[in-house]
Amino acid sequence: MIATIRGARKLEGTIRLPGDKSISHRALILGSVATGRSKLRGLSAGADVHSTVACVRALGVDLDESELVGRGMDGLLAPAGPLDCGNSGTTMRLLAGLLAGQAFTSELTGDESLSRRPMDRVVAPLRQMGAAASWPPLRVGGAAALRGLEYQMPIASAQVKSAILLAGLYAEGVTAVVEPVKTRNHTELMLASMGADLKVDGRRVEMRRAQQLEPLDIDVPGDFSAAAFWLVAAGLLQGSRVRLESVGVNPTRTAFADILRASGWEIGASRGRTEGGEPVADLDIRPAGATRPIQVRDGVAAEMIDELPVLAVAATQLAGTSVIAGASELRVKESNRLAAMEEGLLAMGADIVAEDDGWVISGPRRLEGARVRSQGDHRVAMALAVAGLLADGSTEIEDAECVEISYPGFFDHLEYLC
Ligand code: S3P
Repeated sequence: MIATIRGARKLEGTIRLPGDKSISHRALILGSVATGRSKLRGLSAGADVHSTVACVRALGVDLDESELVGRGMDGLLAPAGPLDCGNSGTTMRLLAGLLAGQAFTSELTGDESLSRRPMDRVVAPLRQMGAAASWPPLRVGGAAALRGLEYQMPIASAQVKSAILLAGLYAEGVTAVVEPVKTRNHTELMLASMGADLKVDGRRVEMRRAQQLEPLDIDVPGDFSAAAFWLVAAGLLQGSRVRLESVGVNPTRTAFADILRASGWEIGASRGRTEGGEPVADLDIRPAGATRPIQVRDGVAAEMIDELPVLAVAATQLAGTSVIAGASELRVKESNRLAAMEEGLLAMGADIVAEDDGWVISGPRRLEGARVRSQGDHRVAMALAVAGLLADGSTEIEDAECVEISYPGFFDHLEYLC
């Protein structure tokens, strides 16, 4: 599908974003080994979360729209064939951790993009825990008993951290992970709420084997990473007024809002509350006043890794030179996002250079509508759609159906807000 986006004058309205993708995956995976029925309201309807639903069903879990019957720590069934994780790295890496501790072997497969992504980063620590694990293709589990380990993570990755913690649920002794920078902590919050024996000390998370996990009863908050597109577009189109209801504002996810605020954005948060241990608020965005260029350095990039493509779009509109660095992980996402955004924004007239670990972007540049490639990557497609809203003329985005991966209603929301 080719999506055609026309330049917009302003955005106006109130929307409810899809359920947080990271929390949705974790609720389905952890609920599967809880004892009893979990109530999960507001799960993401995106294709990635559907992949997790299909995988847990293949492991014998009974679930409908909002209820999932946990099978207990050792109740999962051996799947009849490979588990298809589709486009979802989170599904593959988190399940690899959980399944490493099962008595049966599982094979995890995915689409062309996922098949290219590195899985040695989970296989290596799982093997150190004594698990049977190999890649490619990714195979984990079997009779081997797991033992705890103290793992100094070489890269900042919430998926890898979570995989090790999930394996730790089945390991003898203490399992600890030490992160180079603190990444999203949804796994830790959810495990603690289910009664797991877990301690967090700064960047170190330590846990012990679980005999049993209590089921969940949660309302999944709106996805902050989906909010990012509207924060940028509404902040840059004068006269905009956008409200995003019930957005997850866990501080391990909101560094992107802080960087926009530092650059001059007005983002208000109201009705702050906690749902299922996760902070939630309504966000109000007004156009940014005077804006400053953006500086993202090493550690900080990991805290806003999924928002960086749309941050690059914002940088094209700011006076001065913005530098986004420390983001080499973007090369191994659903596409090479450093290259994909450079290609798309160059075609639209931006001044952007992709470096080894980020971009250098000079602005402000008036963007021109163009035909651009999403590379089948949902975040690239949506970031380029935001660029299209800011551009003169019309922008055509190829393979735009990939937005379904994380944000099925994206183009409907775009039309409504315009
Ligand atoms: C996620 C972690 C991040 C992020 C991904 C979701 C998670 O990946 O990019 O979209 O839910 O844990 P990495 O762990 O590879 O950084």
